[in-house]
Amino acid sequence: MRANAAVFEKLFTPLSVGEVEVDEPRPGEVLVRIVASGVCHTDALARDGDMPFPAPGVLGHEGAGVVAAVGDGVTSVRAGDQVVIGWPWCGSCRNCQDGQPRYCLQLGPLVIGGSRADGSTALRRLDGSPLHSHFFGQSSFASYAVCAANALVPVAADADVSILGPLACGISTGAGAVLNALRPPAGSSIVVYGSGAVGLSAIMAARLTAATHIIAVDKLAARLSLAAELGATETVNVSEAGVDPVAAVREICGGPADFALDCAGNVSVLRQAADSVGMRGTVALIGGAPAGAEFSFDHLTTLWGKRVVGILGGEGRSVPLIGTLIALNRQGRFPYDRLVRKFPLDAVNEALEASHHGDVIKPVLMMPE
Ligand SMILES: NC(=O)c1ccc[n+]([C@@H]2O[C@H](COP(=O)([O-])OP(=O)(O)OC[C@H]3O[C@@H](n4cnc5c(N)ncnc54)[C@H](O)[C@@H]3O)[C@@H](O)[C@H]2O)c1
Ligand SMILES: [Zn+2]
Ligand SMILES: [Zn+2]
Repeated sequence: MRANAAVFEKLFTPLSVGEVEVDEPRPGEVLVRIVASGVCHTDALARDGDMPFPAPGVLGHEGAGVVAAVGDGVTSVRAGDQVVIGWPWCGSCRNCQDGQPRYCLQLGPLVIGGSRADGSTALRRLDGSPLHSHFFGQSSFASYAVCAANALVPVAADADVSILGPLACGISTGAGAVLNALRPPAGSSIVVYGSGAVGLSAIMAARLTAATHIIAVDKLAARLSLAAELGATETVNVSEAGVDPVAAVREICGGPADFALDCAGNVSVLRQAADSVGMRGTVALIGGAPAGAEFSFDHLTTLWGKRVVGILGGEGRSVPLIGTLIALNRQGRFPYDRLVRKFPLDAVNEALEASHHGDVIKPVLMMPE
């Protein structure tokens, strides 16, 4: 069937919007009419080669919409159901079976393989030549996407599906890091480097815990004001002359913090995050980095019981994590919708640019009807 899509033709080049052909769903697959797809910083990482997704193809991994058709054997959803397309997972490896599908042992092929497991792609140009598909198992910068049924998160028929896509990645990543992975105990202190979609989601989640210091660090004053509205108890603006964030954190907490999250996607920030926590503190790697990036920590102070953890996608399973965040949002306790600004699919490059420059925190692409 025909669909509108933003095609990633080659590295470092704006995406080009046009028509493509999408497969019918095969056994175990679902065809989703995408209503809207969030734009994540990771889409730009792929466009710029820091995440090796093969071109030409279709990016996008925060899709939400309505089931258009199901393949043989699919009973978990049916045509007309509203869904968010969650994280892809094989369901049978050790980590999937252990309740940690974010760390599926098939993660690489499922996320950036550019095809189904058998090498076939679900997308073609109108002349029949193949386009890589299945970016994060979905390729949602298109008005239709084929994905595995086990990735879908069904949502209520009255939910506003146009804002749910970001729960598939960026928003869940920050919130899940706090709620699933770090679980700060009462009275703890958390510092979040980077107040983008991921960092602000971590801050909103931290506000739902009994942490007593929730410190937002960024270089953009407007984002820090928003961080304070959403739950930060203190803010640190690193663009102000003479501000050393590590020293500022120590002053606020009366010593090192208990948890530091790098949600900035900048390796030098990771070192600041590590230096912000002390004995038995935890530093979490969440932000992306250029391909091949390395980091170094101070040996002695890391030896002091410091935990260094990488966290993908907010950990845990998509259904409970996304379902919980939707419920909290409805209750007004997780107002992530304040981060969203909608763009038409045609404006995909402006949306990526607006996110890169910090003008928009969470762009969402609305698909043509
Ligand atoms: N681990 C995962 O599963 C996962 C999932 C989604 C996104 N990511 C990554 O998380 C990162 C954040 O994503 P986002 O969508 O929130 O991006 P974003 O660009 O909206 O936010 C990054 C923020 O960091 C701030 N920043 C930049 N340099 C800084 C510095 N030196 N000190 C403090 N703050 C600084 C920016 O001003 C911005 O507000 C990206 O690198 C993205 O690729 C990781
Ligand atoms: Zn698996
Ligand atoms: Zn993402």
